[in-house]
Amino acid sequence: MSLISKIRCAFTLGQGVLIENEALKETNDPILFFNGWLKKAQDTGIILPESMSISTCTPSGRPSSRMVLLKEVDSEGFVFFTNYDSRKARDLEANPFAALLFHWNILQRQVRIEGRVERISSAQSNAYFQSRGRGSRIGAWASHQSQELDDRQTLVERVKYFEEKFSGKEIPLPEFWGGYRVIPESIEFWQGKADRLHDRFVYQPTEKNWTVKRLNP
Ligand SMILES: Cc1cc2nc3c(=O)[nH]c(=O)nc-3n(C[C@H](O)[C@H](O)[C@H](O)COP(=O)(O)O)c2cc1C
Repeated sequence: MSLISKIRCAFTLGQGVLIENEALKETNDPILFFNGWLKKAQDTGIILPESMSISTCTPSGRPSSRMVLLKEVDSEGFVFFTNYDSRKARDLEANPFAALLFHWNILQRQVRIEGRVERISSAQSNAYFQSRGRGSRIGAWASHQSQELDDRQTLVERVKYFEEKFSGKEIPLPEFWGGYRVIPESIEFWQGKADRLHDRFVYQPTEKNWTVKRLNP
């Protein structure tokens, strides 16, 4: 381990001691707590701290994972955007449950979220779609995400086709593109500590609030 890694390690381990107070006493709201951790990750300057793995399963229980970007989080859940014909979307339409995973290495922190998944409204998807750069909006139209592509030139041609089609016009939301919300059934916060004696707290929703319990590391 390099000296800088050791210093970082010692620093972040020292930061971890607050978790019990933070998680159990200061707030019983894991979304607020999550936002605090995300903010902390953003403050470290790491690239794309909002990137997360999402695992889906086929109806026969075969899992697959990939990274996506968290775009919204509130009391309703965690929202990301994708192609509704993609492999992950096909899984989710047939088996609407997912597991999200954040890992902020520099902070020795991990957050696991599991829950049911639903599409957000097309009005909400459109609001986000229209906030994206023109290139990304054209890209969404051009990519048949997860399907086989003969060669890169075919994709480049499709981009050109949609650039011409929408030249000087608004780019509409493709009907095959939009957001999903993961509605949490559990949210686990993991803080790395010395000697593998890590802190783990798992929140689960009740009718009106959340329960929180500590797990063995
Ligand atoms: C850091 C990172 C962020 C990504 N964000 C997204 C995203 O927000 N939405 C998306 O559809 N794909 C995103 N991707 C690409 C996916 O990982 C994946 O390749 C794609 O969605 C196709 O997955 P699927 O075939 O399993 O559906 C991202 C990849 C990386 C590495």
